[in-house]
Amino acid sequence: MFENAPLNPPDAIFGLIEKFKKDSNPNKINLSVGVYQDESGKTPVMNAVYEAEKKLLASRGTKSYLPIDGSPGYRDAIGRLILGDDLFDNDGVHSCTAQTPGGTVSLRLSGEILKRVFNVSAIWMSNPTWANHTKIFATAGLEVKKYDYLDDSGTGIGFDKVLASLQAATAGEAILLHAVCHNPTGVDPTPDQWKQLCDLIVEKGLIPVFDFAYQGFGESVDADAAPIRNFVAAGHEAIICNSFSKNFGLYGERVGGITAVSKTAEASAAMHSQIKLMIRTMYSNPPLHGALIVNTVLNDADLRANWLAELSEVRERIIQLRGEFVSQLTERLPGQDFNYINLQRGMFSYSGLSKAQVDALQAEHSIYALGSGRINIAGINSSNMKQLCDAIASTY
Ligand code: LMR
Repeated sequence: MFENAPLNPPDAIFGLIEKFKKDSNPNKINLSVGVYQDESGKTPVMNAVYEAEKKLLASRGTKSYLPIDGSPGYRDAIGRLILGDDLFDNDGVHSCTAQTPGGTVSLRLSGEILKRVFNVSAIWMSNPTWANHTKIFATAGLEVKKYDYLDDSGTGIGFDKVLASLQAATAGEAILLHAVCHNPTGVDPTPDQWKQLCDLIVEKGLIPVFDFAYQGFGESVDADAAPIRNFVAAGHEAIICNSFSKNFGLYGERVGGITAVSKTAEASAAMHSQIKLMIRTMYSNPPLHGALIVNTVLNDADLRANWLAELSEVRERIIQLRGEFVSQLTERLPGQDFNYINLQRGMFSYSGLSKAQVDALQAEHSIYALGSGRINIAGINSSNMKQLCDAIASTY
């Protein structure tokens, strides 16, 4: 029977990492997967994480099961981080949070809830979006519809097109929004555009699902949450999928959460119960270690301050790398305007490189980027910057 299973092609992102690992060129450069790399090309364990792990080891707690939805301390810490203390403590805002193994499971759970509990038929997402978004929601049984996102240059937002294509959305459909640091483009709406987008979502009766995988990579943990907080503060319901892969560097520990904001306490209790049912029937309860780390850091004033400072350093370094990258490219290609790279935010840049250029970079220079032209800015460092810019210039 199994010979009838169709062969699925390698994943667009993880398949590329495999290829990169096999490349024997000592000067190979990995700009593919969204993983932060420091100046030495390593993905470091943050100090706050290391200190929390030492505390956990010393206290020799337990490896028993977590509750289905994770520990109360962790869940509240997520609620506060996303919504801010004012909304979280506001009696009129009814939210529930469950721990999930990373942002991916959180997204999948929201797809399952939308489909199974509310029979939502379709979800709108930006074109382009993270390749896995499409697969996650399609696998959950939703039709995926795309709204235009970029302008004609393909490197900045085409907001008129966003609004125009969403005119076709109908009440009861869902919409997926990247709360900050859009993946794959790095192109975010302005605050005013966010307001218009949220007004349209309310006017059309769409159900928003915010993917919040890069909190702290845009401007600050609070500023980056503004699109969500403004929407919730205006009294609307939303699902928020967050991840600690990037902002805690806890990629392989699989730590995240799903938060639902409802209009009434009863609705919130029902949503919470549905999320728990979905978790119990899929993986029973979440993994322990990563959530203990996050819980320890977020609930300890010193560790939290250290974490925020480290996260700021990461953000500032990426911004500096963008500036240096743009100036080195401009030196080599004075006729080209690369400033859009400075305007994009977070780890990624829709670099403007064509598929042919990306292919040439890989074949001739062992430089790995996604076929869409997405590059991970955090894969650049002062040792590979010159080599990278020379190689890119040779493809023009
Ligand atoms: C990425 O977009 O590269 C990351 O979010 C990693 C992943 O899971 O694809």
